[in-house]
Amino acid sequence: MKKLMILGASILQLTAIEKALEMGLQVIAVDMDPEAVGFKVPGVICENISSTDTENVLLAARRHEINGIMTLASDKPMRTVAVVAKALGLPGISPQTALNTTDKGQMRTVLKEHGVAVPEFYLVRSLAEYLDAVSKFEDSCIVKPVDNSGSRGVTLLLNSSSLDKKKEAYNYSKKYSDSGNILVEEYMQGPEVSVEAFSIDGVCYVIQITDKITTGPPYFVEIGHNQPSSLPVVTKNEIKDLAGAAVKATGILEGPSHTEIKLTDSGPKIVELGARLGGGFLATHLVPLSTGVDLVDSCIRLAMGMNPDVAIKHDRGSAIRFLQAEPGTIVGLEGIEEARKSENVVQVHISHSVGDKSVVLKNGNDRIGSVIARGETATEAIASCERAQEKIKIIVK
Ligand SMILES: Nc1ncnc2c1ncn2[C@@H]1O[C@H](COP(=O)(O)OP(=O)(O)O)[C@@H](O)[C@H]1O
Ligand SMILES: [Mg+2]
Repeated sequence: MKKLMILGASILQLTAIEKALEMGLQVIAVDMDPEAVGFKVPGVICENISSTDTENVLLAARRHEINGIMTLASDKPMRTVAVVAKALGLPGISPQTALNTTDKGQMRTVLKEHGVAVPEFYLVRSLAEYLDAVSKFEDSCIVKPVDNSGSRGVTLLLNSSSLDKKKEAYNYSKKYSDSGNILVEEYMQGPEVSVEAFSIDGVCYVIQITDKITTGPPYFVEIGHNQPSSLPVVTKNEIKDLAGAAVKATGILEGPSHTEIKLTDSGPKIVELGARLGGGFLATHLVPLSTGVDLVDSCIRLAMGMNPDVAIKHDRGSAIRFLQAEPGTIVGLEGIEEARKSENVVQVHISHSVGDKSVVLKNGNDRIGSVIARGETATEAIASCERAQEKIKIIVK
């Protein structure tokens, strides 16, 4: 039996764990949490190691004599995947590419070197460097940690802010930065999209372009995705070209990529990219609904040295809306079953319970849940999704 090691055994990795088992593979799941849901799936071999502890993951990988290693939709284990794949001669991105796609400072530098459009940026390591960088921007700038996700630590800073507010933005970002490195960059304005692609033998196949809705300034938390993007074909082609150039520049020759792009007055520019699937149910739910492409299956196949099938099967619509509520304590969650039964609804996921706090959204974890719907077109999927969303009442005191 061929063995696949999957880094992470949380809900995020569950789709991969289950699919790999279905494919007849022996799954070795790695997670620092002994209670991880993925460990409870029958047949899974559990390794209670942090997925970022490269040394011990490598030892376990050797001990199990694995045939492949992967992770889904999460940045933190990417460097370990790359190091283990290289050490054992297994398919995967190189450690350098893992760095290029998980450290936003390194990412910006590499993209700029290759002439790929990025916002003006300064990589800073101290408060003095930070204040100096902030003063380079006329009106406002974005402050963000180089190595986090889910919008954690990202803020828009107005130049007219007091010194205290500037320090606050610095400390907020710093709190979420493992390395302590922070990016101060141009605030790009315009519609935002993400590009889900899959590379095979150095060729980048774009599978889908998604219109993204965020809360906007100051924290930019994702609150909705629509597929396919409603942008004109010419714009979509520019987006595809830019994503392809970013994938090439960072060295992603094989496997998934998730590229986020802002369409500014001076053309599309890169927000960030990962050598991984898009999270937030993008790759696991929305892409299969809108294109028929099973990206999780493709990732497993690639990791195991088998041929992935990324051919687009159909052109339909899909949408997700994330739930939020007024700040307070959740005292009631109503209408969930009605929402589930609503036309074209594929999934209603609630991550909070009665008694939990609801807060102004600052990062992805603050969202209360989500609704996913399908449709023949994006418009139909959006309408179904929003109709179901309206049925859910989050009562807050
Ligand atoms: N330079 C920027 N200009 C405009 N918006 C930005 C910029 N950087 C980040 N954002 C906004 O913040 C969101 C989160 O930032 P991102 O760099 O993607 O970090 P994360 O890894 O947390 O997703 C983006 O999706 C975008 O809406
Ligand atoms: Mg992002």
